[in-house]
Amino acid sequence: MITVEWRGKPVWVVSLTDEMVKTLGQHDDKLSDPQLEVTSQQPDYCKNATRSIKPNLMVMEGVCTHLGCSPSPKLQPGGDMGGDWQGGFFCPCHGSKFDLAGRVFKGSPAPTNLMVPPHQYLSDAVLLIGEHSKEAA
Ligand code: FES
Repeated sequence: MITVEWRGKPVWVVSLTDEMVKTLGQHDDKLSDPQLEVTSQQPDYCKNATRSIKPNLMVMEGVCTHLGCSPSPKLQPGGDMGGDWQGGFFCPCHGSKFDLAGRVFKGSPAPTNLMVPPHQYLSDAVLLIGEHSKEAA
């Protein structure tokens, strides 16, 4: 995972293993908006299971949708997040939890999933944040 700055905000670029991607379909019942119905939180081309253009590479703003703190990466299962934690992000300010695709868990004070900014890949190695991809959803 790396963090870059865009418009004064942290943007995370998170590499997910195939195992991590598989976990994303396993807890929809625990999420507030698993089907991405709040469409303002991601571009149409990221309205998919991983909320990303490339399934193994997430791009999202590292800004909690509650009051704007920056959540902490808790990418690995378990640990101090408990035995049923499959990996994701935890906001220490008021306890919001997000999965590896930035989808918020029910019971969190954050009202919506983390924001996926406009972005596109200029090549396999070059990511441009701030301009929309022309790829279809
Ligand atoms: S700012 Fe993240 S939970 Fe309140």
